[in-house]
Amino acid sequence: MSAIDKAFTGSIADVYERLLVPLIFAPYAQDLAAHVARAQPRRVLETAAGTGIVTRALAAQLPADAAITATDLNEPMLAKAKDALKVALPDRRIEWQQADALALPFSDASFDVVACQFGVMFFPDRVKGHAEARRVLVPGGRLFFNVWDRIEDSEFTDVVVQAVAELFPNDPPRFMARTPHGYCDRDLIRSDLERAGFADITIDAVDHVSRAPSPREPAIAICQGTPMRSEIEARGAPGLEGATDKAEEALRRRFGSGAIQGRIRALVVSATSAAG
Ligand SMILES: C[S@@+](CC[C@H](N)C(=O)[O-])C[C@H]1O[C@@H](n2cnc3c(N)ncnc32)[C@H](O)[C@@H]1O
Repeated sequence: MSAIDKAFTGSIADVYERLLVPLIFAPYAQDLAAHVARAQPRRVLETAAGTGIVTRALAAQLPADAAITATDLNEPMLAKAKDALKVALPDRRIEWQQADALALPFSDASFDVVACQFGVMFFPDRVKGHAEARRVLVPGGRLFFNVWDRIEDSEFTDVVVQAVAELFPNDPPRFMARTPHGYCDRDLIRSDLERAGFADITIDAVDHVSRAPSPREPAIAICQGTPMRSEIEARGAPGLEGATDKAEEALRRRFGSGAIQGRIRALVVSATSAAG
């Protein structure tokens, strides 16, 4: 994994929250929070919370006596999350803390549930990340996370990545395939979780539809609101705007000019911390 893959900083955090979250992350946040709520936890740890779309869904779905600790590696993402929550609903149940999911600053057995939306793919060592989640869970505690399925199953992303690759045929940006869509082998996920001490593992494919007012929004969201932005900028001409225009044109050719929609598919995973 390249160092840029985990750098959700600067303008990326802004475009991410404004355009990418409503496009592809919001529907899965409701779904993940519902899984967490059904487990009836008192203490929830969220890792890789980003700009807080799941945190907000958890706040809406969990009872008044639940405690939510929301963490992320990158402060700029948490800053957006805190701002959004101040506007949406101030909530004393939530504590924010910068934390690397592979080295959590929490005691053993201090949470009933760990939740992570589209973050596990960014962990440089997934078994270590899962093992950290297990360490901070009580025995019998639950881990819920989701990951994107194959890039071909996320239509907007697939079209944008192919369009941008045509601009740099000798050195196409590979972030999207390598990382967000790079951890979708069900057998690998299952065996990583077992190696980290989890049992009772379920992995379900969940489809949603991504909707945008025009091809422009997904073009900006994917080219500028993800670490692919840094890959494009590093490659020079035609630059970020040129690549975004090219992506927009490809989306228009495939989906049309007005409001557009495309399929997205994620794997939703649950596991139980095995005793002992
Ligand atoms: C695709 S975003 C998902 C954010 C959020 N969960 C959501 O659904 O919008 C991936 C997040 O993983 C975070 N991240 C990357 N590596 C991490 C690590 N080692 N520990 C914790 N967070 C990490 C990034 O900062 C980023 O916010």
